Amino acid sequence: MQCGHQTRNEGFSNWESRPLRGSQALCGADSLSPPKLLPSLNPTYSKSCFGFIPGLECDLALNLVGQHLVRQLVVKGVREFLQNHDPVKPLVMSFHGWTGTGKTYVSSMLVRYLFQDGVRSPYVHQFSPIVHFPHAEQIEQYKENLKSWIQGNLTNCGRSVFLFDEMDKMHPGLIDVIIPFLGPSWVVYGTNYRKAIFIFISNGGGEQINRMVLDLWYARKDREEISLQDLESAVSEAVFENPNNGFWKSGIIEEHLIDLLVPFLPLKQHHVKQCVVNELTQQGLTVHQDIIQAVADSIPYFPEEERVFSSTGCKTVASRVTFFS
Ligand SMILES: Nc1ncnc2c1ncn2[C@@H]1O[C@H](COP(=O)(O)OP(=O)(O)OP(=O)(O)O)[C@@H](O)[C@H]1O
Ligand SMILES: [Mg+2]
Repeated sequence: MQCGHQTRNEGFSNWESRPLRGSQALCGADSLSPPKLLPSLNPTYSKSCFGFIPGLECDLALNLVGQHLVRQLVVKGVREFLQNHDPVKPLVMSFHGWTGTGKTYVSSMLVRYLFQDGVRSPYVHQFSPIVHFPHAEQIEQYKENLKSWIQGNLTNCGRSVFLFDEMDKMHPGLIDVIIPFLGPSWVVYGTNYRKAIFIFISNGGGEQINRMVLDLWYARKDREEISLQDLESAVSEAVFENPNNGFWKSGIIEEHLIDLLVPFLPLKQHHVKQCVVNELTQQGLTVHQDIIQAVADSIPYFPEEERVFSSTGCKTVASRVTFFS
């Protein structure tokens, strides 16, 4: 995706600097970059996944394990949004799930398809509460800064991507300052801001997702039978009602500004094994059955006795592969 010819990469830490001016609004790209073979995430990628949506779809199918809802929702949502030359509002997605289930992995993959430099692109802005909003007493200042940062960068590139990680650690009330950018009518300096993509990421709702999947398992049903509607309402309610979550009583939930609530399901042992295979392949190591088993066995699972779902998803797989190889 093309966005102007801005060369500066103003990190968010530089947000004290003036927002970029409207005259630099050179992007607003209606079309995506021509299909390109992007740098590979793993060896399977470069062989077969290229083009934008087909590439993203293929990459997710090959490399994301155990997240059928994520694959469907993200591919369909992003495809429809990007094909629409006059979207009524920005695309707002919220990723929820337990640790190590692939939230950061999917968001990084997505931005690599949107911008060649992925998360390092000057048009991709990542926020983490611990890094960018650490002090509760400075919340008013953060609000002001965040608003002008988003406004400045949207003026520069209407197709910007804003990633808010660890929403569950954000001070409640802070995120609502961006509400005007998420709705259907935000136009500033004549620039249409409706082409931006906002992604919220959090563990909030993860417990509810795990509980529902576990209940299905107890009922001897497949985790794939889970209903998105049930998950959506349970997750929204969980984050909205939790005073320790950035979405607590948030207008973003209340005003239904999230287009896609994307639930990441807990991973089972065979998914973990698949992650081990991916990791071994990516590291150029031989895929040995005993390493796969050793790594999978070393991971904690719940319920404790039955050991069905990984308590840490695939998060520690890479380091364990190194250890067991
Ligand atoms: N569903 C998955 N499919 C394939 N690999 C995965 C999946 N989930 C996690 N991984 C692997 O585990 C690593 C860690 O996952 P990731 O950082 O995406 O977890 P997360 O959901 O963001 O966790 P947290 O909530 O702790 O931030 C990824 O880089 C990837 O290698
Ligand atoms: Mg993460």
